Amino acid sequence: QPIFLKNYLPPAFLVQQVHLNFLLDSTQTRVISRLELERNPASTQANLPLELDGQNLKIINLQLNGQCLTEADYQLTEQQLILPQVPDSFVLEIEVEIDPLNNTALEGLYQSSGNFCTQCEAEGFRRITFYPDRPDILSKFTTRIEADKSRFPVLLSNGNLIAQGDLDNGKHFAEWQDPFPKPAYLFALVAGNLHAVKDSFTTCSGRQVALELWVEEQNLHKCEHALRSLKAAMQWDEENYGREYDLDIYMIVAVDDFNMGAMENKGLNVFNSACVLAEPKSETDAAFNRVESVVAHEYFHNWSGNRVTCRDWFQLSLKEGFTVLRDQQFSADMNSAAVERIQQVSMLRTAQFAEDAGPTAHPVRPESYIEINNFYTLTIYEKGAEVVRMLSELLGKETFRKGADLYFARFDGQAVTVDDFVACMAEVSGLDLSQFMLWYSQAGTPEVAASGVYNPTEKTYTLTLKQRTPATPGQPVKQPLLIPIKMGLVGAAGVNIPMEVNGEFWSTERVVQLKEAEQSFTFHHLEAEPVPSLLRGFSAPVKLSFDYSREQLAFLMTNDSDGFNRWDAGQRLALLAIQSLVAQQQAGETLELDPALTSAYEKLLKAPVSDPAILAEMLLLPSEAYLAEQYEQVDIDAIHQASEFARTSLAKALYAEFLRLYQDHHSSADWSPEASAVAARRLKNVCLTWLVATEKPEALQLAEQQFKQANNMTDQLAALTCLAHAKDASVGKEALEAFVKQWSQDALVMDSWFSVQASRPYPDALDKVKTLQAHSAFSMKNPNKVRALISAFVNQNRVNFHAKDASGYQFLADKVIELNQLNPQIASRLVIPLTRFKRMDKVRQNLMKIELERIKQEKLSADLFEVIEKALQ
Ligand code: ARG
Ligand code: ZN
Repeated sequence: QPIFLKNYLPPAFLVQQVHLNFLLDSTQTRVISRLELERNPASTQANLPLELDGQNLKIINLQLNGQCLTEADYQLTEQQLILPQVPDSFVLEIEVEIDPLNNTALEGLYQSSGNFCTQCEAEGFRRITFYPDRPDILSKFTTRIEADKSRFPVLLSNGNLIAQGDLDNGKHFAEWQDPFPKPAYLFALVAGNLHAVKDSFTTCSGRQVALELWVEEQNLHKCEHALRSLKAAMQWDEENYGREYDLDIYMIVAVDDFNMGAMENKGLNVFNSACVLAEPKSETDAAFNRVESVVAHEYFHNWSGNRVTCRDWFQLSLKEGFTVLRDQQFSADMNSAAVERIQQVSMLRTAQFAEDAGPTAHPVRPESYIEINNFYTLTIYEKGAEVVRMLSELLGKETFRKGADLYFARFDGQAVTVDDFVACMAEVSGLDLSQFMLWYSQAGTPEVAASGVYNPTEKTYTLTLKQRTPATPGQPVKQPLLIPIKMGLVGAAGVNIPMEVNGEFWSTERVVQLKEAEQSFTFHHLEAEPVPSLLRGFSAPVKLSFDYSREQLAFLMTNDSDGFNRWDAGQRLALLAIQSLVAQQQAGETLELDPALTSAYEKLLKAPVSDPAILAEMLLLPSEAYLAEQYEQVDIDAIHQASEFARTSLAKALYAEFLRLYQDHHSSADWSPEASAVAARRLKNVCLTWLVATEKPEALQLAEQQFKQANNMTDQLAALTCLAHAKDASVGKEALEAFVKQWSQDALVMDSWFSVQASRPYPDALDKVKTLQAHSAFSMKNPNKVRALISAFVNQNRVNFHAKDASGYQFLADKVIELNQLNPQIASRLVIPLTRFKRMDKVRQNLMKIELERIKQEKLSADLFEVIEKALQ
């Protein structure tokens, strides 16, 4: 039952207007819709039947132009309502009944903490009423909501409030009208006992926009940061993309039960509370950063997504990739650009590269899917953003902006494709981007092997770049891509040498376009062998290899003018050192850490601190997940042993330096949101982690002290993690108890409390996780809790998830089976680590497959079916 991109057909009918009337009730909500339909003049076939999507809907009444329809007039399937004979233009009235209270899938209309809310992207609207639920049908929506006034005093939907009032029996109503035609996936409704923090923004043309953030009463003190971020994003989009907001009101609602981060419904965003609420005592700096970026992301969708939307779901990255790039650019402008880039790339290289290497690998524009919810992936979002970023590198900032302007102007109010977007970029730049389109159609992570030869007599340096993309499921053969490689040649003392290639002068930095499978560039007039700095700023989402010596890496670490590449040189050096430890471990030798790494760290620690935020990043070793990515055959245990050995060796060797740095950046001053204060906290807490890695009593004491004295969650949680992750489980006991006592009423903080325990890197973690499932704050129906406890164990506790006794696999399979019933979207995400068995040893491969087979015995949702099927193929 897969759906194919190549089978796309324009819709047979268009919807001019939709009137919705909701009579809200927990288990028996009535939805009465009135659709003004007409045949699509652009439809390619005549006299097609009307097909409306609908799932789990109970039909109460159907009328066509005022005439009641009987069962003889239509066909009803599990998925659709089909009317074979309809006029060319008509009014259809549909009354259905739905059950929001028992909607645990959290798609369509459901209840969260007693309040009603909706999630319609991608195909949730069909769980609310019968409708042509596809993004290329844009219609004007009017929504009337009727509910009990005392329990649901606040009634919200898209657009502007046009009427409200009281009704009999303690009920009231509100009517909202959205002037902008939109696809059904952008519809939203919220009703409940909510409280607003209000603000306003004046747009560049002088219009006043009311801003409202709706939350439960106990969260009113957590709204300020999101509102500040929203205003900053609105201004940023005016200045950087010329995009002005278009309604008189912009509302955000925070809900606790939400499958994803947030949703950009027109004028009424619905947010996972974890992505909108933030207050220093209870949320970390990382949470503040996430709120800023998600608030901006959803706001930016108003243009890249809502005003210009997707023709079909294969084009999902058209809005997501572009919008992620926009939110990344915004975050880079608001914070340290280098640190933002480092964090994005770390995530991409571990998680997205792993996706590309696994059974669910897919192109940025997939060719087919069974369940579209499975395609809200790192590939669509993050790699999609990298693809648009490459366009901006290739075109240059100004031309890229012209292309974006053209795209918004030309396609405003339309549902379009990735080709339309790229065509705008080609048009404004005059570039031929046909080869570039392969980035959208080819899955897998391209590998670029670079090598250099210096010829001292000719004084030339020849750089050779070779590219290949490994096969992915369904795509055995790959073509060479157009890969922009930003580079420079670094000479003695760290100067960027002006480059001259065959009489052409390139200046000191250049974006080289690699188009062939293999290309060479010869640089002239070089007095000595330069050190190439390649893929600066991570200019393309590829794996770049170059046979750097340890000396060259240490040199680039301090001398590269590109901040990202300085960090990456350090990562490469650490990688070499840990990989040789892995080899020693596998050979049964005594472990010995490469002294080059220790001295590079020492140099970092002893140098004057120019940028504490970057230093903090440079002091982090590559994660075990990233290490695993480097191997065709992953030895989970050896990687863990090697990492731990590197960590404790460095910590012991450089204890005094880490302690000094910790003390220098530890302040008892009041919490501040300033970038400098954030950086200091980050650096200090990275140092604390290093100190406790030694397990020295005085280090643990320091953590205890910090835990007790902390006036903010960043410091408190960092200290708690250090204590709870000490080898001796009793070390963290007291702090964990104090923490739960202090925060048991705060759902978001409790998520951290679960995660800290689930990620404890010792074999006792799984039993703890199992026990914690019975905790009163835990619920399998709440996705944040599932992520905090179960995903945290599976994804942040690799050695123990992969325990050789299969206990981790069995546990995960049990949870997936449970969630298959409750929430298919969450189940199908949770199972992914179990599908990544290809690079494991034979024993683990078999154990993992046994659990997948066990899951397969169940009556699976489409979501899980698709993933399991691909994994076992
Ligand atoms: N469009 C939303 C965002 O990226 C995500 C919605 C995902 N929904 C889903 N059911 N997969 O901001
Ligand atoms: Zn998005």
